[in-house]
Amino acid sequence: MTPTSNIQTGDVSAEQSGQFRIGGDLTVNRLGFGAMRVTGKGIWGEPEDHDESIRVLRRLPELGVNFIDTADSYGPYVSESLIAEALAPYSGGSVIATKGGLTRHGPDLWPPLGRPEYLRQCVLMSLRRLKLDTLPLWQLHRIDPKVPQDEQFGVMKAMQDEGLIRHLGLSEVSVDEIRAAQKVFTVATVQNLYNLVTRQSEAVLDYCEGQNIGFIPWFPLAAGSLARPGSILDTLSHKYGASPSQLALAWVLKRSAVTLPIPGTSKVGHLEENVAAAAITLSDEDFAALGEQGQQEAARK
Ligand SMILES: NC(=O)c1ccc[n+]([C@@H]2O[C@H](COP(=O)([O-])OP(=O)(O)OC[C@H]3O[C@@H](n4cnc5c(N)ncnc54)[C@H](OP(=O)(O)O)[C@@H]3O)[C@@H](O)[C@H]2O)c1
Repeated sequence: MTPTSNIQTGDVSAEQSGQFRIGGDLTVNRLGFGAMRVTGKGIWGEPEDHDESIRVLRRLPELGVNFIDTADSYGPYVSESLIAEALAPYSGGSVIATKGGLTRHGPDLWPPLGRPEYLRQCVLMSLRRLKLDTLPLWQLHRIDPKVPQDEQFGVMKAMQDEGLIRHLGLSEVSVDEIRAAQKVFTVATVQNLYNLVTRQSEAVLDYCEGQNIGFIPWFPLAAGSLARPGSILDTLSHKYGASPSQLALAWVLKRSAVTLPIPGTSKVGHLEENVAAAAITLSDEDFAALGEQGQQEAARK
């Protein structure tokens, strides 16, 4: 039987995951939080349990989580508004990273829109909702293929120069796209789908490591069938007294010093369990075995 964690959840601080300096000047604890799940079904509308969402967000600073990822499109607007309701004026140095450049036409629909005037509106409205004068980190949610890249990158650089944004990032991009953006501005972070069994962004992660760009793996908990009884994750879960989800996070944290995983949840219990992954140190041997198994799983998918 796959064990649940017997690490003392609630006592572990995200500080134990180590630190990363975003853009060389904003220091965060590497294990962060993704605030997409504090919204309604299909990431549309208000969460089922508003009070629990607020409790989750207020628990973050207590657990040492000071890197919070959100986007104007989560809800839309709901996630940013709840973050401000729970945490503004962000005492204790929380870094709120948000994103823009997608429109929402209904549950689970996310068409990109990269016209410069729309990106500017995204930033101005995120500032208003988050009750901030400057966004610490703003990431282009998707490069819009219908709009010239230079127009999208150009307005991002302009808004940074105007002081609306401190650092800029990208999401779901290739190495070539990062290089193209680097000709216009300093890329502080890249946010791509990545976890133990979803590894198509290995080259992007390696590039980010070489450039000291923060790599934010989204969907970090998708341990999938690795958690099945008898799998290596299952065996190691017993060895470390940790849940499969915690081991999946520990693996992503050990993969590179630039990874900033942002597991998301709408429940305080799950948040505490996820943060407790910061206390796990995988041996080099177990890390390698897990990575190999994950790669095989990825190839089968
Ligand atoms: N850049 C992009 O395009 C993009 C796309 C998607 C997401 N993101 C960002 O990445 C963050 C994470 O992505 P994600 O939410 O899709 O994936 P995830 O964090 O890997 O998984 C979240 C899911 O796992 C569940 N969960 C969380 N902790 C758990 C635990 N300890 N035990 C069991 N279940 C648990 C959550 O449900 P409960 O609420 O029930 O805990 C939720 O359904 C998002 O919040 C968002 O900020 C970015």
